[in-house]
Amino acid sequence: MNSLSPFDTISKTAAATTKRTLLIVDDEDGPRQSLRVVFKDDYNLLIASDGNTAMEMVKQSKVDAVVSDIKMSGMSGVDLLGHLKAIDPYIEVILLTAYETADTLRQALRLGACNYLNKPFEIADIRGAVAGAMERRAFSEQIDRNSQQLHELQNELQNQKMLEEITRSRGEIYASIIHDINGPLTVISGFIQLMNQRIGSATRLEGEDLENIKDRQKTITRQVTNCINISRRYLSFLRQQTDSNAAVGVNQILADLIELITAHPCVHDNQFQIHPLPEDIVVRINGTDLIQILLNLMVNAFQCTSQSHRVELRCMVHSEPLELSGFLDGPHDQLTNRENFQNVPPLLALAVTDNGPGIPAGVLPNIFNAYFTTKGHAQGTGLGLNIVRRLVKEAQGAIHVHTKVDEGTTFTLFLPTVRDSGEPAPSI
Ligand SMILES: Nc1ncnc2c1ncn2[C@@H]1O[C@H](COP(=O)(O)OP(=O)(O)OP(=O)(O)O)[C@@H](O)[C@H]1O
Ligand SMILES: [Mg+2]
Repeated sequence: MNSLSPFDTISKTAAATTKRTLLIVDDEDGPRQSLRVVFKDDYNLLIASDGNTAMEMVKQSKVDAVVSDIKMSGMSGVDLLGHLKAIDPYIEVILLTAYETADTLRQALRLGACNYLNKPFEIADIRGAVAGAMERRAFSEQIDRNSQQLHELQNELQNQKMLEEITRSRGEIYASIIHDINGPLTVISGFIQLMNQRIGSATRLEGEDLENIKDRQKTITRQVTNCINISRRYLSFLRQQTDSNAAVGVNQILADLIELITAHPCVHDNQFQIHPLPEDIVVRINGTDLIQILLNLMVNAFQCTSQSHRVELRCMVHSEPLELSGFLDGPHDQLTNRENFQNVPPLLALAVTDNGPGIPAGVLPNIFNAYFTTKGHAQGTGLGLNIVRRLVKEAQGAIHVHTKVDEGTTFTLFLPTVRDSGEPAPSI
C-alpha cells in the first residue's frame, strides 16, 4: 500500500519557489496520486503516507496547508491535526472524511481544522477548499508580520522613553552628587577647623594633642572615602547597575552616623540621641546609601526649626510583615514605595523623630519631589528626600512619614534584612 519514501517531494522548479507549499497526507496510494495530479501545477507539493512523516516534513520545511485523510493506520488525521498545530499554530489543515461521527468532526474543528470534505469529493470543491486555506494562511502571516512590526515599534518607543528618562535623570544625578558630597565635605571642614584650633600656634605636637589630631585625621580619611563611594554610586546609577548583594550591619552605620552628626554644624544647640540595636542586624543595603539616607533625615530634622529641639533615632525589628492596609495616606501620613516594598520579615525599622513644627498637610504630598524645598533656595536644594526615596526604592524598602503640626515629625525607614542562619532576627 505504501510505495512512497518518507520524504517523497515533487521536484521543485525555479518558479515553484514562489509557490505556496501543500502537504498531502494519506495512507492509501490512490487518493495521494489523484490529489497530486490535481495540485501539482499550482503548489509546491509534499506528500506523506503517515502522520509521523507528515510531522517531520512540517518541522523541516515551511508548509502552508495540509490535506489529510482522517482515517489512517497509525496516527489519525485528527491527532495529526493537533500535532501540526503545536508545531505551527498558523498551519491550515483540511480533513477528508468518509464515515466519521459528528463528534470526530466537532473535535477536528475545535483543534483548528480550517475545513473538511466528505469523500468522494468534487475536484472543484477540493480546489476551493485549498485555495481558501492558502488565503487564510496568507492572512495570518500578514497579521503576524504586522504584530511583529508593532512589537518592534513598541520596543523602539520604549527604548526612546528610557533614553529620555536617562537624560532627564542625568541632570538630577549630577545635582545629587553635589548634594550628597556636601555632607561629608561639611564634616571634613568642621574637623579641619577643630584640628587647627588644637594645633594653634604649637610648634610641636605630643601626647593627647597628637592622639586627638590622629583621631580626627582618621575621620577625615573616612569622609573622603565616603565622597568617593558617593561618586561611584551615582556613576553606577548612570550605568544602570545595582549591587544586589550589598549588605551592612546597622550598628556600625549608627556609630558612623553619631560621629558625623556630632561634627555637623546643623546640630547647633539641639539635643540628639541615636539608640543602637541591643543585637546587631544585617540590612540589605549598601553602607554609604544607608548613611546618606539617615544623614538626610537627621539633617532635615535638625533644620526643621531654628528653635532648640530634640532629634532621636530609634531602631526596631519586626518579625511579622507590615500590615500595609493600615498605612493610609492622608494629611498626617504618607507611605512611599508601597508597590516595590519587599515586605518580608525580619524587617528593620529606623525611626527619625523630631519635636519640631511638623509638616503642613498642603506640603506633605510634595516633600519627596526633586527640587521641592520650603527653606528658600539659598538654604536647601530640595533634593535630600528625593535622594532618600530613590535609595530606599533601590533597596526595596519603604518610608513612612507621620507628622502633626506643632507636635513634630517621624520618618520611619523599613528595610529588608539578611537572614544568614534562616533564624528570624530577635524582636524588641
Ligand atoms: N523633619 C521635618 N520637619 C518638617 N519639615 C520637613 C522635615 N523633613 C523634610 N521637611 C520638608 O520637606 C522639604 C523637602 O526636604 P528635602 O530634604 O528634600 O529638601 P531640603 O531639606 O529643603 O533641601 P536639601 O535637603 O536639598 O538641603 C523641606 O524643605 C521641608 O519643607
Ligand atoms: Mg534636606
